[in-house]
Amino acid sequence: MVYLPRKKFYITTPIYYVNDVPHIGHAYTTIAADVIARWHRLKGEDVFFLTGTDEHGEKIQQAAEKVGKQPKKFCDEIAKKFKDAWKALDISYDHFIRTTDESHVKAVEKALQILYKNGYIYKGKYQGLYCVGCEKYLTESELVGGKCPDHLKEPEVLSEDSYFFSLSKFHTILLNKIEKGEMAIKPEVRKNEIISFLKSNKLEDISISRSKVKWGIKLPWDENLTSYVWVDAFLNYVTGIGWPNKAFEKYWPVDLHLIGKDILRVHATIWPAELLAIGLKVPKQFFAHGYFTVNGQKMGKSLGNVVDPVELSKKYSVDAVRYFLIREFPFGEDGDFSEKALVNRINGELVADLGNLIYRVLTLAERYKGKIEGEPEIDKNLDIEAIDSYIENLELHNAIESVWKFVRYVNKYINEKQAWKLEGEELGNALYNLLEACKVISILVSSFLPETAEKINKQLGVKGCKLKDCKFGKFTGRIKKGAYLFKKVE
Ligand code: ME8
Ligand code: MG
Repeated sequence: MVYLPRKKFYITTPIYYVNDVPHIGHAYTTIAADVIARWHRLKGEDVFFLTGTDEHGEKIQQAAEKVGKQPKKFCDEIAKKFKDAWKALDISYDHFIRTTDESHVKAVEKALQILYKNGYIYKGKYQGLYCVGCEKYLTESELVGGKCPDHLKEPEVLSEDSYFFSLSKFHTILLNKIEKGEMAIKPEVRKNEIISFLKSNKLEDISISRSKVKWGIKLPWDENLTSYVWVDAFLNYVTGIGWPNKAFEKYWPVDLHLIGKDILRVHATIWPAELLAIGLKVPKQFFAHGYFTVNGQKMGKSLGNVVDPVELSKKYSVDAVRYFLIREFPFGEDGDFSEKALVNRINGELVADLGNLIYRVLTLAERYKGKIEGEPEIDKNLDIEAIDSYIENLELHNAIESVWKFVRYVNKYINEKQAWKLEGEELGNALYNLLEACKVISILVSSFLPETAEKINKQLGVKGCKLKDCKFGKFTGRIKKGAYLFKKVE
């Protein structure tokens, strides 16, 4: 078999803003990252999976003010909600970074100093459209009829001293790296979007200091200014594995930055430029997945249609939510979330295919008192290499569908053999095949449905295994039939 394990595999999610509680969109990215991380562990790789929260900046400062809380206290509360949500959803992260962690703050100060020393930061004037009512700069696109939509006033053209990062210097080198695939961007359509953006626009230097925002990391050479939140936030990807400590080299460069398409452009430009300016390697790969709507509408607080993934997992089980999110949306494309579609997947696939299979096999096995042994007959229908390459290509929906093809095939084998009518050695042989198939299925689903895999292992009386154990051997389990794996939703 040719699923060559890498030595190490480093994967990240975005760090989520704490002005919002965890919702189904955050859960989507994080569950997908978890599936990928678990799969690489299953292959025996040294995996590091990083997630966390983005806690500085004006947006957070205002959110805290709105509820009358100190920003740090406010961040503590919301960060805990993210941690709790990931626990409820069986997310196996190795580290949860918060940008207010002291080690991160220290490292960002150091990074800023290096950028300054290396000549990529200079002092200039920031000019923008300032709305005094809002106490902030507005972009042209935020204006309605040339006025601030909240204060119905034309903003002033204002300028302030500001430090800039020489992003423009990196235009050619970034375009080159992206075109050559040295810094891979997937899916292909997203890569092409970035390339055409870079071909039709010149990257401009960006202001990296803020004088009005107090809730941020201070510039080491000017304590009156704080760092632009993205400059701080991106660095989590290296500080989260120990930078500036040399130990971070064990995992850097990152193998996969998993993000939503909304933040791809900043990730593919500002972040690698920041790395190059510090003297670090660029990421190996970005994957930007699609966005989903809820019942056809954009999800948002104002619409009151924000879906809470923890509530959903309480109602339907965590693995039902994980299965649905991975199976329903072709990974990379936009999609629409609805509970109806979730229920269809539960009843049609979790209950009718997998739950049913395990129940039927265990029922037969419990009745049978003879030896469970025979010749492998159905393992030919198992293509683990194909499943692995789907995951390598980040076609997660196809990977799980391939596992399901095997599940359905095994159900068909029971029917065609009319296994319930067999006796003696013939039944022993069929059961051998069925139980080994269930063992293998349990390994294959374990990255997607960790709780279910454990339940199957318990019923089969086997231990969890690695991907290399995904083959028919000798059945050594001790059967103990349990409850149905999934409940039908009426
Ligand atoms: O952008 N559909 O944080 P954020 C799919 N802090 N995915 C969605 C989604 C939806 N409707 N809504 C959100 C930030 N997401 C920055 C990132 S990284 C250095 C800093 C997911 O809280 C998706 O992964 O706004 C998206 O990219 C991310 O949440 C944005 O999270
Ligand atoms: Mg956002």
